[in-house]
Amino acid sequence: MTGETLSIGVLNGPNLDLLGTREPHLYGGEGLKGILARLEELGRELDSRVTSVQSNHEGELADWIRDTGSTQDGMLVNAAAYTHTSVALRDALLAARVPFVEVHLTNIWARESFRRRSLLSDIAVGVVSGFGADSYLLGMRGLAAHLRLAE
Ligand code: DQA
Repeated sequence: MTGETLSIGVLNGPNLDLLGTREPHLYGGEGLKGILARLEELGRELDSRVTSVQSNHEGELADWIRDTGSTQDGMLVNAAAYTHTSVALRDALLAARVPFVEVHLTNIWARESFRRRSLLSDIAVGVVSGFGADSYLLGMRGLAAHLRLAE
């Protein structure tokens, strides 16, 4: 994929539409729109096109992975609470067979014990967790480098 524009799908799970007002001491003051704008800007630097989804519904996210995610070169996935529970999203990601980086604003291993289990980490290229909104940007840099090397 060297020299070609990469297509990157960005999946955001439940309650991430509330970023900016939701528990700002944990998730920061920036809204999802701002994070996506920064990702698009980074996308221009990395010659990558960003397509994103946010949904509070597991089935909608599974459909998006099947219909859109599977057509991308790679994905950034913040499945939010579904990270810890969703066999359906895991299966959809396996079926899509598109490399993805798992991202979290918070360090999921430094919080409640139920957040320490991710059903996605072992099938991800890598995990970026704990850097706030910058987790997305770091994840995108890692993903683009991985995709360009994998060519
Ligand atoms: C999160 C961590 C999850 O445990 C939580 O349910 C979220 C956000 C994060 O980005 O830190 O909604 O994925």
